[in-house]
Amino acid sequence: MTDRISVRETGTGTPLVLLHAFPLSSRMWQPQLDELPGTDGSEARVLAVDLRGFGGTGLDPADEPSLDLLADDVALLLDRAGIERAVVGGLSMGGYVAMALARRHPGRLSGLLLADTKATADTEQARANRERIAEAVLARDSVALLLNEQVPSPLLGATTAAERPKLVDRLRRMVGEAPPEAVAWAQRAMAARPASLDVLAELAVPALVVVGEEDTITPVADAEAMAAVLPDVVLTVIPAAGHLSSLEAPDTFNWAVRGLLERVR
Ligand code: MLT
Repeated sequence: MTDRISVRETGTGTPLVLLHAFPLSSRMWQPQLDELPGTDGSEARVLAVDLRGFGGTGLDPADEPSLDLLADDVALLLDRAGIERAVVGGLSMGGYVAMALARRHPGRLSGLLLADTKATADTEQARANRERIAEAVLARDSVALLLNEQVPSPLLGATTAAERPKLVDRLRRMVGEAPPEAVAWAQRAMAARPASLDVLAELAVPALVVVGEEDTITPVADAEAMAAVLPDVVLTVIPAAGHLSSLEAPDTFNWAVRGLLERVR
């Protein structure tokens, strides 16, 4: 396990751990860090984690790429923060890590938020594409390929990409900061992940599934498939938002998360 996991934290209420998308960092959760603790700060204790290699958390490239390591990092972080059980939420890659945590450490969850993610494993074609990206960013020591292929679309929805140039620029800066080694490691870790529908079907805590209506990476059908097996679930589809729904439509996203926090309390 990594010695130091970097976390941004605000508020004092119900613990809510947020896990970011690929290839971003805890910075993507700024609208949630700002708003979810509530006006007096007591509604939620929000902890936005930098997963290995991203933001302020280091990576040992010699570690075998696996999302299980990232899930174990989150369990360790909860130990160190003195939190027995938390609502754990992840967007896309962060959702894959949240599902790995639900598989490996189910007793640490008081609720589960799955945003713009999916519970199926990769196809052979998707794995080959991840390996292509991993090799290219390492060979060029640059994430320019990701910027060309993923920003603004498909990371952002069509409406945001067309209408919100400042958010597009912000995203470009965030993606540009991703270290090539972390990008390659994360691609290989995601390629190795198992399907998790079986884990979701056994989940004993309240769940929220959120998806941007214009998400083309993990479309509404993926959200519906997860919601179909989760025993206690609310599904929220956010209009005019894409894959990064928490950034594109923070007010609606935060409203949905507040609903989950209420159900957990
Ligand atoms: C993400 O947003 O985290 C990625 O698109 C997930 C993936 O590549 O499967």
